[in-house]
Amino acid sequence: MMKSIFYSRFFILLPWVLIVIIVIDIDTKRSSVRNTAHSYLSRLSSAPRRDAAVHAPNRTAPPPPLIYAITPTYSRAVQKAELTRLANTFRQVPHFHWIVVEDSASRTELVSRFLARGRVPYTHLHVLTPRRFKRAGMPRATEQRNAALSWLRAHRTATDSGVVFFADDDNTYSLELFEEMRSTKGVSVWPVGLVGGRRYERPIVEKGKVVGWYTGWKADRPFAIDMAGFAVNLQVILDNPRALFKRRGAKPGMQESDFLKQITKLEDLEPKARNCTQVLVWHTRTEKVNLGNEPKRHQDSVLIEV
Ligand SMILES: *[C@@H]1O[C@H](CO)[C@@H](O)[C@H](O)[C@H]1NC(C)=O
Ligand SMILES: *[C@@H]1O[C@H](CO)[C@@H](O)[C@H](O)[C@H]1NC(C)=O
Repeated sequence: MMKSIFYSRFFILLPWVLIVIIVIDIDTKRSSVRNTAHSYLSRLSSAPRRDAAVHAPNRTAPPPPLIYAITPTYSRAVQKAELTRLANTFRQVPHFHWIVVEDSASRTELVSRFLARGRVPYTHLHVLTPRRFKRAGMPRATEQRNAALSWLRAHRTATDSGVVFFADDDNTYSLELFEEMRSTKGVSVWPVGLVGGRRYERPIVEKGKVVGWYTGWKADRPFAIDMAGFAVNLQVILDNPRALFKRRGAKPGMQESDFLKQITKLEDLEPKARNCTQVLVWHTRTEKVNLGNEPKRHQDSVLIEV
């Protein structure tokens, strides 16, 4: 009886062991061409454990870190269209939690219905931006992003594994981006397309480390990066309870840099997307809609949510 169990376990595991051995073999062969004998040996000793973790079925393994995407949003003609585009992407991402923060005095019907009908796990928050901050030249969505950070600090603990990402509603996200950021240990970075008056901006990476910024705008910012260009491990958010987006003294375009300064250093950034050579997110921005023909009187006889 014990023996037959032993043999059946053995034959179930055997193909996996073979796959792991083959993968290790291919991996080390490839690196032996590229690398020196020294790094060949160091890879050989570190490779098996990593590959085994990927290939061996392990029912007790912890689930992958949850991705918390924080999306500030506000009422406007294109709001539902933008949120729909995001939801269509996000519902395809496993282990995902969407934190939607409305700039409003209460949760609006439109967004409440939208989230309830969608198939994306979510938390729906709201905070009204004080009137004095609603001016051109003021950074936007500060209160909303901070509300999401406060929610995480109040509802998640040191045992939760997660990665926090600021997913504005006017961008386009590829699915690969989420698998890239999922392994973020501290703060990870990657290129962003169609931003800063360029086809793309990106962190400049040398020998696997971020050393500077390829950007067309204020290159002397400590972290010259767009909101869509970085992710932060949940524990970094919890370990730095005072790290927030600042109102006082903040200028538009400095929000990201001011925030990252509080939680990381340039040399600690983790480059993703093939050492920051791949664009996986685009700052698309929706064209300002023309509502010039909206009737003032004689409106449609039914009320339609757009
Ligand atoms: C499965 O994963 C858990 C948690 O990572 C680990 O403690 C355990 O040793 C693993 N078991 C096997 C058979 O690899
Ligand atoms: C990034 O660069 C480092 C150092 O040059 C290299 O070891 C690593 O394999 C590169 N990563 C990727 C994903 O290309």
